[in-house]
Amino acid sequence: MKAAVTAHPHYVVSEIDPRLYGSFIEHLGRAVYTGIYEPGHPTADANGMRQDVIDLVRELNVPIVRYPGGNFVSAYNWEDGIGPKEQRPVRLDLAWHTSESNEVGLHEFADWCTCANTEMMLAVNLGSRGLDEARNLLEYANHPGGSKWSDKRIANGRKEPFDVKLWCLGNEMDGPWQIGHKTADEYGRLAHETAKAMRAFSKSLELVVCGSSNAKMPTYPEWEATVLDHTYNEVDYISLHMYFDNEANDAPNYLAMSEKLDAYIVSVAGVIDYIKAKKRSNKQVYISFDEWNVWYHSKEQDKKILGGSDGWPFAPPLLEDIYNFEDVLQVGLILNTFIRRSDVVKIACLAQLVNVIAPIMTVPNGPAWRQTIFYPYLFASNYGRGNALDLKVESPTYRSVAGDVAYVDVAGVHDRQTGHVTFFAVNRHSSEAIETVVDLSGFGAAEIVDHQVMAHADLKAVNSAENPGNVSPRKGEGAAVAGGKLNLSLPAYSYQFIRLRL
Ligand code: AHR
Repeated sequence: MKAAVTAHPHYVVSEIDPRLYGSFIEHLGRAVYTGIYEPGHPTADANGMRQDVIDLVRELNVPIVRYPGGNFVSAYNWEDGIGPKEQRPVRLDLAWHTSESNEVGLHEFADWCTCANTEMMLAVNLGSRGLDEARNLLEYANHPGGSKWSDKRIANGRKEPFDVKLWCLGNEMDGPWQIGHKTADEYGRLAHETAKAMRAFSKSLELVVCGSSNAKMPTYPEWEATVLDHTYNEVDYISLHMYFDNEANDAPNYLAMSEKLDAYIVSVAGVIDYIKAKKRSNKQVYISFDEWNVWYHSKEQDKKILGGSDGWPFAPPLLEDIYNFEDVLQVGLILNTFIRRSDVVKIACLAQLVNVIAPIMTVPNGPAWRQTIFYPYLFASNYGRGNALDLKVESPTYRSVAGDVAYVDVAGVHDRQTGHVTFFAVNRHSSEAIETVVDLSGFGAAEIVDHQVMAHADLKAVNSAENPGNVSPRKGEGAAVAGGKLNLSLPAYSYQFIRLRL
């Protein structure tokens, strides 16, 4: 089989916002406790933060981390997580039916972000609480001093403000499972007033209003239209979430799901434009896709804890999906979709980062290890920065639940500053390699500087603490640039990343 791709430096979708490669840490399961934080672990620093985890997060080059939830935030009292640790209360977490010790809160997480070379994206609780708690948290986090809440922060040991720029106005407020779930009108009004108050504190904040929890919600896409009607001129982004599963064990259709993701983004971009026109606004709202990943492997095992039959355990294993090779392809396809839609999707967060549906896993008092999906995220985050190229792709297709889908899925990024062009490609074909020619003539001479391939005989192959390298990239072979064309062979069911220096 053959495919042809044309890339030209003049055909650009958008400059990619680096925050397209963000992630997420929620107080859920072992994400925080025995994930990022484990005092007594051999690698723990003076704050109890695991250095082995920080090293892996730094390797991923994560620009922002959303915190502290997720569903957790909708019944969270942020004040529980400040002040002397021994005085912090234990609370029942109603979202995940667990106990929260509050040993880690805003200060500890901010210090962790500094060590992990990332920035905080904070969510406020608009479920059980509202405007007043949000504005107090903002004053606590961002005001230099001389006011009630900023002085409390200073008294708690942090003189300089945290200076958090990016704020989520609640989480998944369209979901009946959410503590404090609201109708679109109820939420839209509250989000508008909260945004107004936060903007009164500082005009430079970036605010994210909740869109739909997924495209199957009965309220989608009316939710977006109503919420934006209330908030359009006060917010900068509308958030979307989507999780992928292969419960049906049907790889061709599973790997077609990124086309549904694409359609979801395009529809919400249309709703944004509709409200923009309705309001005669000059301002552009973008999408923050602040939760996405594969999530299904752990659903069965979590039922007991989530159903409450284990009482209120502290940091039990929850949502500990063990990813396989098939999920590498899926995560590669999702990231390619975001790159191609980077004109409207400015922020995206892989949900989540450690232990909970995560690329990084930890063993308590043991090693941290890389899941299979670590790699496509690593390559995109490190090398997918610059201009997203508007590629022309000609590929054979197959019939799927998402219509006719190309076997070859490819995204390209041109980094003008460093003079590199990088391609990320997935072959969705189960048995055939696809010989692919990329026309690069607009770029002039180019040489291959890195080429990594992920392929595996077993779609269900996984990594583990004992065998962390089972599914990992190997050096690509046989690709060549000649006469302004890059020739490469995409093995059946494979992911690859190839980087050229111009
Ligand atoms: O990421 C896990 C959960 O998925 C989040 O808490 C929630 O926002 C979503 O439903």
